[in-house]
Amino acid sequence: MRFDILTVLPGLLESPFAHSILQRAQKKGIAEIVVHNLRDYATNKQKSVDDYPYGGGSGMVMSIEPFAKCIEALQAERSYDEIIFMTPDGPTLNQSMANELSGLGNVMILCGHYKGIDQRIRDIYVTREISIGDYVLSGGELPAAVLVDSVVRLIPGVLNDETSALSDSFQGELLDAPVYTRPADWNGHKVPDILLSGHEAKINEWRHEQALLRTQQRRPDLLGDD
Ligand code: ADE
Repeated sequence: MRFDILTVLPGLLESPFAHSILQRAQKKGIAEIVVHNLRDYATNKQKSVDDYPYGGGSGMVMSIEPFAKCIEALQAERSYDEIIFMTPDGPTLNQSMANELSGLGNVMILCGHYKGIDQRIRDIYVTREISIGDYVLSGGELPAAVLVDSVVRLIPGVLNDETSALSDSFQGELLDAPVYTRPADWNGHKVPDILLSGHEAKINEWRHEQALLRTQQRRPDLLGDD
């Protein structure tokens, strides 16, 4: 799967993809993540990527030209399954969206800044808008990193232990059960005996009960009984 991310702040995206699972997915050739600096596509002398809003008002608006030039240059090389704009006014990202996107081939992600992007970019090029939650960040870069992370880990072959993604919170209808590692006793705080019993069926039953309890307590809406 290939991601092309368009941004005026490529530096913000240098680190999130250079570690752990995302780094491994790229090394294995399962995911390719390419960051494009929109300033490279600015045509005017000042290399500006934004301008004052028509009709007045505060804040700058990102111009259509650099986006259009970058998008069309990329589209000349390959076709895209989705062109996604990260925006707080889009539908909120959830696990089923991440699952759906993990089955795609080429995805472009547009990051906005300042007051927003010229509406015509959204009208002409964008096929999908995604928010990562009901709060406003300074730009679309961190949301893009969140989206890519949530999708890439679901591509078959990325995780070593395939079952670990399957038992994630939200992957089924239940949150994940609590987990423990050594030591079994830390200053009197003990790991539940059942996990030390070696009895696999009983452990699975306990985990299911705990997952159910946690979901009832924290997210009853997931069970449809809030
Ligand atoms: N850009 C700024 N805030 C955002 C959010 N919450 N989700 C997606 N993109 C954003």
